[in-house]
Amino acid sequence: MKMTDRAKRFLAGLCAAAACVAGLTAGPPAAVAAGPARTFTIGENDFLLDGKRLQIRCGEIHFARVPREYWQHRLKMLRAMGLNTVCVYLFWNLHEWEEGRYDWTGMADAAEFCRLAQQEGLWVMLRPGPYSCAEWEMGGLPWWLLKNDGLQLRTTDPKYLEPATRYLKEVGRVLAPLQVTRGGPLLMVQVENEYGSFGRDAAYMGALRQALIDGGFEVPLFACNPAGAIRNGYRDDLFQVVNFGPGAAKNAFETLRKFQKTGPLMNGEYYPAWFDQWGGRHRTGDVKRYLGDIEYMMQNNMSFSIYMAHGGTTFGLWSGADRPFRPDTTSYDYDAPVSEAGWVTPKFEASRELFAKHLLPGETIPDAPPPNPVIAIPPFQLTESAAVMANLPTPLKDRSPRSIEFYDHSRGCTVYRTTLPAGPAATLAAKGVHDFGWAFVDGEPVGVMDRRGRRYRIDLPARSAPARLDILIESVGRVNFGREVFDRKGLIAPVQLIANGAAQDLLDWEIFPLPLDEKQRASLSFSAAPPKGAAFWRGGFDLAEVGDTFLDVRGLGKGVLWVNGHNLGRFWNIGPTQTMYCPGPWLRKGRNEVVVLDLLAAERPTLAGLTKPILDELRPELDFARRPRAGGAFAAAPSSAAHTGAFTNEVQWQEARFASPVAGRYVCFEATGAHDDKGLTTVAELDLTDATGAVLVKSDWKIVWVDSEELTAEAGDAQNVLDGQPNSIWHSQYSGTSSPGLPHRIVLDLGASQTVGGIRYLPRSGDAGQPGRVKDYRVYVSDEPFGLKP
Ligand code: GLA
Repeated sequence: MKMTDRAKRFLAGLCAAAACVAGLTAGPPAAVAAGPARTFTIGENDFLLDGKRLQIRCGEIHFARVPREYWQHRLKMLRAMGLNTVCVYLFWNLHEWEEGRYDWTGMADAAEFCRLAQQEGLWVMLRPGPYSCAEWEMGGLPWWLLKNDGLQLRTTDPKYLEPATRYLKEVGRVLAPLQVTRGGPLLMVQVENEYGSFGRDAAYMGALRQALIDGGFEVPLFACNPAGAIRNGYRDDLFQVVNFGPGAAKNAFETLRKFQKTGPLMNGEYYPAWFDQWGGRHRTGDVKRYLGDIEYMMQNNMSFSIYMAHGGTTFGLWSGADRPFRPDTTSYDYDAPVSEAGWVTPKFEASRELFAKHLLPGETIPDAPPPNPVIAIPPFQLTESAAVMANLPTPLKDRSPRSIEFYDHSRGCTVYRTTLPAGPAATLAAKGVHDFGWAFVDGEPVGVMDRRGRRYRIDLPARSAPARLDILIESVGRVNFGREVFDRKGLIAPVQLIANGAAQDLLDWEIFPLPLDEKQRASLSFSAAPPKGAAFWRGGFDLAEVGDTFLDVRGLGKGVLWVNGHNLGRFWNIGPTQTMYCPGPWLRKGRNEVVVLDLLAAERPTLAGLTKPILDELRPELDFARRPRAGGAFAAAPSSAAHTGAFTNEVQWQEARFASPVAGRYVCFEATGAHDDKGLTTVAELDLTDATGAVLVKSDWKIVWVDSEELTAEAGDAQNVLDGQPNSIWHSQYSGTSSPGLPHRIVLDLGASQTVGGIRYLPRSGDAGQPGRVKDYRVYVSDEPFGLKP
C-alpha cells in the first residue's frame, strides 16, 4: 500500500508524540506542516523557490520576547511592513533550563510560531544556536554548563558539544517537519552565530552542521558574521551571509564576495538602530539612513534580514549583558520598525512604501492590523512588604564561598553569610562579585560592591565582638557575547578580610539562594509594617477594561516586577527605560496584583500605568555606585610612548606590533590625527596583543579616563571600544558648545600588569567619509596611571 504525503506526515506526528511521552519533553510533538512540499535552493545569482527567483525581505522577531497572545499580531505587522520572511532565534536555555528536560510550551512553542508565520504568508529563517547572542542571558547557552570547571564553551570540548548536539537533534525533532521541503515555512537554518567573532575552528562549525543534518534538516544551512570575521571558522559547505549596520552595505558585500564567489548576496542582520544598556543613552537610528541601505539592497537584488524588525521586551530574568559587563535593559524596543508594543513607526511606513515598489510577481502587501487597545492606570500604592533578609530560606553551608552554579542555583539573588572576628577597622575584599553586592555588618549597611567598576572592596568598621556579615548579591543576566559568556554568578572566589596589612580568607559560610521564582514568592510573608532595606512589595489595582499599558516605575529603585504572576523583567531608576511594558492579555478585569522586588529601599512605592513608554530618561544622579572617571590630568610625554604609528582609512582590523613589548597595568591610546579635519576621534574596537601576538582577554579591563565622549547626540561612550561589537563606537564629543579637538585619549586599566606587544584597531564602519577615523596615534603603557587619579 502506498502512503500519501499527508498520511506520512500524520504518522510522523504520532511517532513524535509517542517519543514525547517516553522522553523528558514537555510540549507539542513534532509539528505537521500545512502546505505543499517545495524546493528551495541557492542558485548562481538568486535564491530559487520552486526554481523561481526569491529576494528575501526578512525581519527578525524573537517569539520569546513577545507575549504569545500577540504573536499573530506581530507577524501580521511584518507582512504589512512589506516583508516576506521572518527570522527567529531559538534560545537553547529557554528550551532546556533544566538539563535534559526540554520545554516547547507557552512562549517557548517555536513550532506554533512558525505555523502562525506560515498562516500569515511569511517564510521562516531559523537560527537555533546553540549559541545565539541577542542580548539574552548567556547568549542562549544554559547556565548548568558552568558547573563544569574548565569546560570550553563554543568548542569541540565534549562536555559542551555533547549537550549542544543533543539539543540540536531535539530541535530537528520539533521543527524539521516544518521545512519548506515538507510543506512548511522553514527556508534555511543557521549554524551557530557570528562564530568568527569568537573562534577559528572550522571543525567545530562542521560538528554543529552535522548535528543539524542528523536532526533531519535538509534545507540550506548558513553561517552569519560581520565582514571582518567571515574568515574565522569558514567552511564552504555553509552558505555565508554578512551582518552590518548603517552605511556598511557596499563594503560588507565586497568582503563577502571574496569568500563566496557565486550565489545571491545576503545580509544576515541589518541594524536599524541598537539595544540599550542600563545607565547608557537610549539608542535610536536615523530613518533616512535605514531606508537608504534597504533601498540599496532592494535595487541590487540583495536579500536581507532587519535585526530587529520588532524587538519586543526581554521579560523575566532573561536579559543579558554586554562585555566586559554592561547589563542590558528590559525593553528591547531597538528603535525597530515595529515598536515594543507593536505600533507602526516612521521606519515601518518608510519600509512599506519602499517594498511596495519592488514586489515579486503576484505579491501584495496587506494593511496593518489595528493596534491593540492601550489603557492608563491611575496611580496606586504598594502597601504590603516583606523584607528580603527576614524571608530567607534554609541555607546551604560551605567552607569557602563558591559561585551559585555549584549550589545548583541558577539565577536571581543570593545571600552569603559568615562571621567576622572582632578586630580593628578593616577592608573586605572579594575577587569578584557577580554582579551587585550589598554588604551588612550585624544588619547595618556598610557598602556596595559593583561589577561595572570592578569595585569589590568595602571598608569595615572596628568590631568589639564577632559580628555577622551578610552580602546580598543580585545577579543579573549572564554576559551574552565574547569569552565573558562563561559568567559564573555570586561570589566567584574566596573573600578576604584585610587588617593591619594581613589578609585572611573568611571561612564557614551559609548560602541562601533566592531564585525569585514562583515558589520563593509564595513563601514570602507580607505585612503592613515598614521593612528595613531590600524588600518585596505587594499591592494592586482594579480595571474595568484591559489593554496594554506602560507601568511607570520612576518611584522604584532597582529590582524585578511581576503582574498577576507574569515577570515583566528588571527595572532600574538610573534609566534610560523608566516604564515597563505590560501586555493587555496579562491583565484582567477586576483586581490585578503587582509584586515588586526592590533592592534599594523604597518607601511605599507608587506606580501608575501610562499610555506611552518612557525609554530615554537617564538619571545618573540616582546611581548608587556612580563613579566619576579618574581625576587629575593626563601627563605623559610623547617621547615616552611605547609605540607611534598610523592607520589607514580601510574598514578592517588593523594591527601594529611594538618594537619591543612593554609591561604595565595602564594603557593610553592617543589619537593625534584623523582621516578628515574635523578634530574628532571614533573607534569601534581596540584590542591589545601580548608578546607573541595573541589577543589579550579584556574581561577585567575598565576605562579609567577619556578626554571626550559624545553622550548626548549619540551613544558614543568610550566603553564601546571594549564590547567586541563593530557597530557601537567611541565617539569624541561633537554636540554642545565646546567640542574639544585632537588629540583624543582613552586610558585603560587592565586590572593587573600585563605584557603588551601590540595593538589592534577596528575603525567605525561605513563609507570613507565617516568622521573621526584614526590616522596618527600613539600608545603608552605604564604601571602608573599617567598622572591621573583613578
Ligand atoms: C550581533 C548578534 C545578535 C545581536 C546583535 C546586537 O550581531 O549576532 O545576536 O546580539 O549583535 O543586537
